[in-house]
Amino acid sequence: MSDPILTEQHISDLVRGFYARARADDLLGPMFAAAIDDWEGHFKIVEDFWSHALLGTARYRGTPFGPHMRLPIELEHFGRWLALFTMTAEEVLPQQAAPLAIAKARHMTESFKAGLFPWKDADGNPSRHMPKRP
Ligand code: HEM
Repeated sequence: MSDPILTEQHISDLVRGFYARARADDLLGPMFAAAIDDWEGHFKIVEDFWSHALLGTARYRGTPFGPHMRLPIELEHFGRWLALFTMTAEEVLPQQAAPLAIAKARHMTESFKAGLFPWKDADGNPSRHMPKRP
């Protein structure tokens, strides 16, 4: 059983474990490979984000939504992202901390989805594009 106290080491394991899966993933891997050159720099930013979100540190002062607006994200990416995150959180975080991290991640995926797909297409599905006038 894992240590019950959440530490920066757990957060580092979470971020690195997630990206090991995401980089090997057929759907997410190519997007990360195209967007990120400096992996250590990216790990540091995302570790800062989770340190802020889960340990309440002031390490992350950015706004995570902005960088995602430039990416060719489709709806199916969110389900895969969350599945890999959930798997990693359950594996590396203390049992008491994993549900909170997963809940925060799920909440962020929902806000990103709402922000990136604000419109509805002709079939009523979320869309990134404003529908044309009839
Ligand atoms: C469809 C799901 C997602 C995909 C494909 C994705 C992909 C990416 C990529 C490629 C970057 C690097 C962007 C760049 O540097 O230009 C990035 C940055 C980041 N992502 Fe995601 N992401 C997703 C969802 C999320 C979620 C749900 C969270 C939070 C729970 C998150 C947290 C972050 C953070 C903190 C950064 C760094 C932002 C900064 O530079 O300040 N991502 N993401």
